Amino acid sequence: MPRHSDATASGGSARPDSRARATSAPTRQQQSERARPTLVFCDVSDWEEQWFRRAFADYPVHFFPDPVDRVPAADLADAVVLSVFIHSRITADVLARMPRLRLIATRSTGFDHVDLAACDARGIVVSNVPHYGENTVAEFTFALILALARHLVEAAERTRRCDFRLDGLRGFDLRGKVLGVVGAGSIGLHVIRIARGFAMDVLAFDTRPHPLLAEVLGFTYVSLDDLLARSDIVSLHVPGAPSTYHLMNRERFARMKRGAILINTARGSVVDSQALLWALREGIVAAAGLDVVEGEELIKEEAQLVAAPHEEERLRLVLCEQVLLHQPNVIVTPHMAFYTREALDRIAETTQENIQSFLRGCPTNVVNPAVLGAPSAA
Ligand SMILES: NC(=O)c1ccc[n+]([C@@H]2O[C@H](COP(=O)([O-])OP(=O)(O)OC[C@H]3O[C@@H](n4cnc5c(N)ncnc54)[C@H](O)[C@@H]3O)[C@@H](O)[C@H]2O)c1
Repeated sequence: MPRHSDATASGGSARPDSRARATSAPTRQQQSERARPTLVFCDVSDWEEQWFRRAFADYPVHFFPDPVDRVPAADLADAVVLSVFIHSRITADVLARMPRLRLIATRSTGFDHVDLAACDARGIVVSNVPHYGENTVAEFTFALILALARHLVEAAERTRRCDFRLDGLRGFDLRGKVLGVVGAGSIGLHVIRIARGFAMDVLAFDTRPHPLLAEVLGFTYVSLDDLLARSDIVSLHVPGAPSTYHLMNRERFARMKRGAILINTARGSVVDSQALLWALREGIVAAAGLDVVEGEELIKEEAQLVAAPHEEERLRLVLCEQVLLHQPNVIVTPHMAFYTREALDRIAETTQENIQSFLRGCPTNVVNPAVLGAPSAA
């Protein structure tokens, strides 16, 4: 259910009633609110609502726990600033419901859920949170690696049943193993730092290599094929984008070292789930740790899935994810690598700064900078 609230109202409920607005003269407070741009936050949790309510106490602000596409159009109509998380898919149709929209502040690093071309066409600025959790996501990457290397989940499940046998729980050391990092950006580089602490050998593939960093951190850039052929563990850290869509397809899985482990904390779209299931069946991939999976948004709410019409491709994705979930050698987590107290605070702080700097006329962390020079089409 949408949760309406108005930061400027003195603890009062909610959005102004449109009928009341039509029949009575606006109060001074309503007049001042109208002079200020309306901010809409979607995908918000209770603590985020409290945070942003304090941060934007002087603005009309509306909060919705649901993704933007599930918020009634009438509740979005006044939005000048929209803040979302990755569960909100911003398409041209969604934008059409917000004729006054000027800024989308996503509370995430990735922005593949936002149709940038549609935003460009409307002159809408999009900002993200580029650096909040390189250590946060890298630490979680190692949580997955260690859990798989030492059969942690199965071991804990067994002991809960008072079964203390070690059969099938023999693990392997990380020391001396080869880690292949695909996408050595902010997060990938932090993964490399941690890997070096475990005395692992590190290979990296990136379309924009930094040889000096390789020298300082002690890793080697190689081609993707070389990385796949030599790595005991492959960890993905590229952004979700058309150029990385199904980067790990059947052909690439076939080139991996037999018995390797795959970790994906980047985006579900980077891995072709059907190809991964094939590689697991063939024993090419011995185990996988997936914080993100293709179509994760589809099965988030089963009720929604049953209610909505779905074409074959979407149902195939859901089916693949269900099969992956039940593989004994696969750990799936609910897209939570970013989810620590410290990272959430940094996300909220940067989002607040992104919105405030936009309102002051000097936007920060803009991911579609071309739009700043372009005249607005709306
Ligand atoms: N699971 C989570 O909770 C979570 C949290 C934060 C970020 N992420 C994901 O992690 C991704 C990486 O984050 P980051 O902060 O390191 O981003 P970044 O932009 O700093 O690094 C991405 C790197 O990938 C490289 N790259 C881009 N396209 C490539 C390609 N086709 N082949 C090889 N390399 C390519 C870039 O050159 C860059 O070095 C984000 O885009 C997001 O999708 C997930």
